[in-house]
Amino acid sequence: MSEKRARIYLSPPHMGGRERELLLDAFDSGWLAPLGPHVDGFEREMATRVGVKDAAALSSGTASLHLALHMLGIGPGDRVIAPTLTFIATVTPVIHLGAEVVLVDSCKESWNIDPQGLADELRESAEAGCLPKAVISVDLYGQCADYDAIEELCAKYEVPLIEDAAESLGASYGGRAAGSFGAMSVLSFNGNKIITTSGGGMLLSDREEWVVRARKLASQAKEPVAHYEHLEVGFNYRMSNVLAAMGRGQLETLDEHLQARRRHNGAYRDGLGGLPGVDFMPLDPRGEPNHWLTCVTIDPARFGADRETIRLHLETLNIESRAVWKPMHLQPALKGVRCRGGEVSESLFERGLCLPSGSGMSDADRDSVVAAIQACHRNVNSSQVSMS
Ligand SMILES: Cc1ncc(COP(=O)(O)O)c(C=O)c1O
Repeated sequence: MSEKRARIYLSPPHMGGRERELLLDAFDSGWLAPLGPHVDGFEREMATRVGVKDAAALSSGTASLHLALHMLGIGPGDRVIAPTLTFIATVTPVIHLGAEVVLVDSCKESWNIDPQGLADELRESAEAGCLPKAVISVDLYGQCADYDAIEELCAKYEVPLIEDAAESLGASYGGRAAGSFGAMSVLSFNGNKIITTSGGGMLLSDREEWVVRARKLASQAKEPVAHYEHLEVGFNYRMSNVLAAMGRGQLETLDEHLQARRRHNGAYRDGLGGLPGVDFMPLDPRGEPNHWLTCVTIDPARFGADRETIRLHLETLNIESRAVWKPMHLQPALKGVRCRGGEVSESLFERGLCLPSGSGMSDADRDSVVAAIQACHRNVNSSQVSMS
């Protein structure tokens, strides 16, 4: 009896370095909660890696975004611009703060926020005398947004930029590391990211005072006195010493993870690039992505099947793949949120497919994903030929 092959996941956690040893060190040291030397070490090492002055280890990327927006004073009556093609966590903190989100479509050249759409939105807001209080950029699927244009626009209108680098640790743009753009930036270490702490995030900035303030706010805004004193209302958003230990171990292996994801991307391009109707996420020559996920678009007229047919075919082989993010302006939960444009992201959602890209995935497993998509193409076309 043939055994069912182990499932190939999209981007599962990948441990392989000193994570276990460091976790046990945290355990044995007695620094179990809430903070401790591994938190300090993880923050220091990440800030050095990204090339920013300071970083605060927090409980998630979403919490980090929430704190960044909170520190910019965003609340009811304010507006924040964000790309529509992203994971919902980019915009939920804006909504929880009672502010309005304005979405901007993707550009075809990189799938990231369209600089022209952003420029138009900012110009019209300035003309109307109501500039947004922040812009959030997202480095989609590990590729940095167009920071030449975005930084220039944000500087021109004096609107602070927050870089949502949840997906892009290890990528770069114009020689600068992802996570180093904007007034503040945010990383995620959830289970599917390039490195993971099983759940966690980080807020980074060159302005140390913001990071210091983030640490305080994330610890219920406790004043440094002997009793519990709070001059303002804070959050419970700190990362624990145990998880930070895992994060330090993961960070040591970041370059290996990057290498593996780049290798997978190259092999997908070699194996699938020649199939009619298959295109890869376009790469901006000014940047170097981390290839967190390799994403393709499928033109059904040329491939012979649509993205969903391929996804379901992979599923029958126990291979996980996913549609590209469903744009925020199509989300029922965000009904009524204004979006500038939207056709590009709608088309990417309709045709886009994310392929298994985990750094722990073997080359043999990846080759079986390639073979499965090639077979799907052969099958649909031979059945069409035999039907005609
Ligand atoms: C673009 C983007 N922003 C924010 C987040 C939120 O990060 P977390 O899951 O750590 O809260 C994620 C990932 O989940 C993401 O992909």
